[in-house]
Amino acid sequence: MSGAPRSRPAAGRRRATKGAKTTPGLAARRAALLILEESLNPAAILSERLEAGLARASLAPADAAFVRALVLGTLRRRRGLEAALGRLVERPLPARHARVHLVLLIGLAQLLLFDTPPHAAVTTAVALVQAGKGASRPLAGLVNAVLRRAVDERDRLAPLVAPRPENVLPPWIEERWRTRFGETALERIARVVAIPPPIDLTLKPGVDGRSLAERLKAEVLPTGSLRLAPGTRVERLEGFRQGKFWVQDAAAMLPVRLLLTALETCGGVGAGPVIDLAAAPGGKTMQLAAAGVRVQALDRSRSRLERLRENLARTRLSAELLVGDAQHPPFAPGSASAVLLDAPCSATGTLRRHPDLGWKRGPDDIARLAERQRRMLEAAAGLVAQGGVLVYCVCSLEPEEGVGQVEEFLAKHREFARLPVREAELPGLAEARTPSGDVLTHPGIWAGRGGIDGFHVSRLVRRQD
Ligand SMILES: C[S@@+](CC[C@H](N)C(=O)[O-])C[C@H]1O[C@@H](n2cnc3c(N)ncnc32)[C@H](O)[C@@H]1O
Repeated sequence: MSGAPRSRPAAGRRRATKGAKTTPGLAARRAALLILEESLNPAAILSERLEAGLARASLAPADAAFVRALVLGTLRRRRGLEAALGRLVERPLPARHARVHLVLLIGLAQLLLFDTPPHAAVTTAVALVQAGKGASRPLAGLVNAVLRRAVDERDRLAPLVAPRPENVLPPWIEERWRTRFGETALERIARVVAIPPPIDLTLKPGVDGRSLAERLKAEVLPTGSLRLAPGTRVERLEGFRQGKFWVQDAAAMLPVRLLLTALETCGGVGAGPVIDLAAAPGGKTMQLAAAGVRVQALDRSRSRLERLRENLARTRLSAELLVGDAQHPPFAPGSASAVLLDAPCSATGTLRRHPDLGWKRGPDDIARLAERQRRMLEAAAGLVAQGGVLVYCVCSLEPEEGVGQVEEFLAKHREFARLPVREAELPGLAEARTPSGDVLTHPGIWAGRGGIDGFHVSRLVRRQD
């Protein structure tokens, strides 16, 4: 038979289910499939693909929530789901059937990770293939047989998708993080990366966190952020329109907090502004503006700066926004009381929020990004006034982008020194303080309360002549 599937289920085939057009729940699965397919394109941004795909599908709210959960869940456990699929077929599908492969992953995710009734998971998967391209349609029988076998063998397959490092982390990340953090921390990290992350809010100064937390049913974190359940629709919450808070992971608010304490210690360092060199979408600019400092916020992305502008308007805060290249910043040398460089990076520390990234990036990207970070750090340093503060941070857990970058910089720039972070500046996060006084958070810290994003933060000061 021409176009016959190369991959056969290890067990015999069964008849494919008919009735593609009327299959209930098919629109949601089709939306999930297309979003997943698009988001695995190396240039795609998952959150944008999700929003665009959901708008295109115009589903009922409950179905849209299901699509979100299915796409993100499939990506978070992709490694385990691939392993489970490997047990069910004799050999992988050829590359030209990549879409059918994704249909199988989505089907397995529903069977092994969600409470989807088996009949719904199987019939929708079969219907997706039947409605697809001619060359793939004959694979409907294979999909039917593989997923039915998965139903029968769920107990045997379940350990492959358990929240463990080898099921959750892309192999190159697992290897690197095992070396960096050790087995126990890696287990904690995997538990957190496997599940939807909570949503943290940074409050505008003056907002009573305890009473707002009570009303929002949020947890007050030791750092002062409020923590909400995963998936909370923040724009519907009390206080959103009044600009009382903005969304920012509890780790992401540390760099500015540490910058502000240093500025206070150094007596404000003259009247210069604080320059935020890679500012958009702007959580850190908002923190700086909320603290009452004069902020100049630069980013090369006009559209991302637009989001910052909207957030500033909502919170009634102000900052000067500039589109430009941080490698050639349009500011006078030595003019800033402090510079924040939240450099573009591999973002491996945010894997739980962006589970596609680990599959699109690899060690080569780390080397390329580290080179760009080095140039940006050089440019940032030139802007700092004598006695001024330089905070360098990345939401990456790769040493080349974090501590390695800073060590290389300090070896070359004797006019800068570390201003070590004190334990008292990290309430509830003593574990995140490194022996040299940097901050290194990872998702396994606070695992019991939902984890925290991974960040490296170094705080430096420019010596006086
Ligand atoms: C990690 S994000 C910054 C997040 C931001 N600080 C916040 O708290 O919301 C890095 C930013 O760097 C920007 N970027 C990348 N290359 C740049 C360059 N050469 N000059 C200026 N901005 C750049 C990206 O557009 C992106 O917005």
